[in-house]
Amino acid sequence: MTQRRPLVAANWKMNGTLASVRSLISGIKNGLTKENGAGDTEYVICVPYVYLQEVRDLLQDTDIVLGTQNVSEHEHGAYTGEISIEMLQDYGCQYVIVGHSERRNIYNESDKIVADKFARVSKSNIVPILCVGEQLQEREAGLTEEVVARQLNEVINKAGVAPFANAVIAYEPVWAIGTGMTATPDQAEEVHGFIRLQLARHDDSIADKIRIIYGGSVKADNAKDLFLKVDIDGGLIGGASLLAQDFLTICQSTR
Ligand code: PGA
Repeated sequence: MTQRRPLVAANWKMNGTLASVRSLISGIKNGLTKENGAGDTEYVICVPYVYLQEVRDLLQDTDIVLGTQNVSEHEHGAYTGEISIEMLQDYGCQYVIVGHSERRNIYNESDKIVADKFARVSKSNIVPILCVGEQLQEREAGLTEEVVARQLNEVINKAGVAPFANAVIAYEPVWAIGTGMTATPDQAEEVHGFIRLQLARHDDSIADKIRIIYGGSVKADNAKDLFLKVDIDGGLIGGASLLAQDFLTICQSTR
């Protein structure tokens, strides 16, 4: 089995001001040193578009990588309010979240749109963090695997399996996001294993190497138990990534 490098990604969502962004980044930078594990784990911060330049500059002398939270499925053109891959490249963005459940559910991004976005990102040097996950009713109806397989297959059918060699998957059960109701490590591990198996049906080596991270109420006090699971390669952190100390504790929980 491949030793996968753990990844902890912050998803700030629509939070922050220039002042709070500066103070958060400074808190994270001050806390992340070689001695406490920086280097072993990859850290990504997915910021709102308008802070890309500021955060890129602030992260210049660190190993922390810049990301963002969404991108257009189109290359360029008459799409008012949208942001293209090229624009993200201009600002040194290296990761982009694709298909977050808030995009799917609040902004009606269909499986097809998510697949189009993933395919578009895959043609660039930016790494997509593809989010999948079931709603509470779906879990209760025993449909978790069916939903996750459907979301994944739509992307594989559009883009093929090869792009997953340079992608990250985030399993984010919708019922766990922002609710404080974290999936138990066993519940999460079961779905992570299932996702890996789905990919292995197409390509063993990609399935073995891809990082599958967990998101949904990861906190300083539950991160370690989640990250100990063999198929959980890190986390996508929302609320807790807005507090430097909590985010740092989560980052250090990968070891
Ligand atoms: P949360 O969000 O950590 O606040 O639950 C996670 C996410 O939506 O990526």
